[in-house]
Amino acid sequence: MLLKKTKVYSNILISLLSVLTSGHEITQLKVPLHADPRRAAELSCHFHMDDQKLHSVKWYRDLHEIFRYNPSQKTQIRLFNVTGVMVQGGSCEQESCVVRVMPLPQATRAAYTCEVSTEGPMFQIARQTKHMTVVAMPEKDPIISGAPNLIRPGEQMLLNCSTDYSLPPSDINWYIDDVIQKPEAWQHTELSAPLAGGLRASWRVLRVRVPAAASGALRVRCESVLQVDPSVLREARAVVTVYSRTELSKYVSNKGGNFYVNANAVITIWVFTFISTL
Ligand SMILES: *[C@@H]1O[C@H](CO)[C@@H](O)[C@H](O)[C@H]1NC(C)=O
Ligand SMILES: *[C@@H]1O[C@H](CO)[C@@H](O)[C@H](O)[C@H]1NC(C)=O
Repeated sequence: MLLKKTKVYSNILISLLSVLTSGHEITQLKVPLHADPRRAAELSCHFHMDDQKLHSVKWYRDLHEIFRYNPSQKTQIRLFNVTGVMVQGGSCEQESCVVRVMPLPQATRAAYTCEVSTEGPMFQIARQTKHMTVVAMPEKDPIISGAPNLIRPGEQMLLNCSTDYSLPPSDINWYIDDVIQKPEAWQHTELSAPLAGGLRASWRVLRVRVPAAASGALRVRCESVLQVDPSVLREARAVVTVYSRTELSKYVSNKGGNFYVNANAVITIWVFTFISTL
């Protein structure tokens, strides 16, 4: 057991040493964390050859080769389209190679690896990997519609929260007075048709019945969640005032309709109009 472990450690040590003593290395790998599905992403690999001779530079998406540079061959650069990405172009300089990829409009995460190898007989390989996720962030906060300014105890309202276009589409959570609202079976998040790049908007309705004993205000909040790492939250808020007869008396001083004008004059007038239609 102990022997086995020692062997594993010495193997690790040997591979570490060979990395350290290898004459060439990848000095910088630039892969954007997020790629917008509407534009090409540029990935670059910078390397240092020391006194070794470059044999090839290869790029892989996951395990599939998408780019190959062989300075000694007639066709120096070759590009390969693979599932999930279109390879638009690539070029190399003395100690760097750049490849431009157009991701398919799907919210995926893939590993991009740059591999630099030296000429024979050593054929030493230096390799580095970074991940890129295809994502389009929402540019606007969600919007709540259907929220009245005032509501009576016992009444119900149908709220609708709609989000901006994004990839993947945003999930939606509803809160009332900071308590998350479990969706009813028919109230799941609905999706719009896709735009270019696969972006979709989403919306979700919430039916609220105001309890008979309620008074004061309901604080309504809709949260849109983009499930990337870390997740991106945006929100919209609305306040719905719950009125009762006792609260109305604060606004209406007598039958003649002389009402008290406060800072919330619009609401007061609305209440007054409502009362006079009773
Ligand atoms: C990849 O596919 C696109 C679209 O079909 C095409 O324009 C491009 O030339 C292809 N590239 C390669 C290297 O085959
Ligand atoms: C909610 O809003 C979305 C986006 O504006 C709309 O497409 C949808 O029909 C609305 N749903 C309801 C039930 O009002």
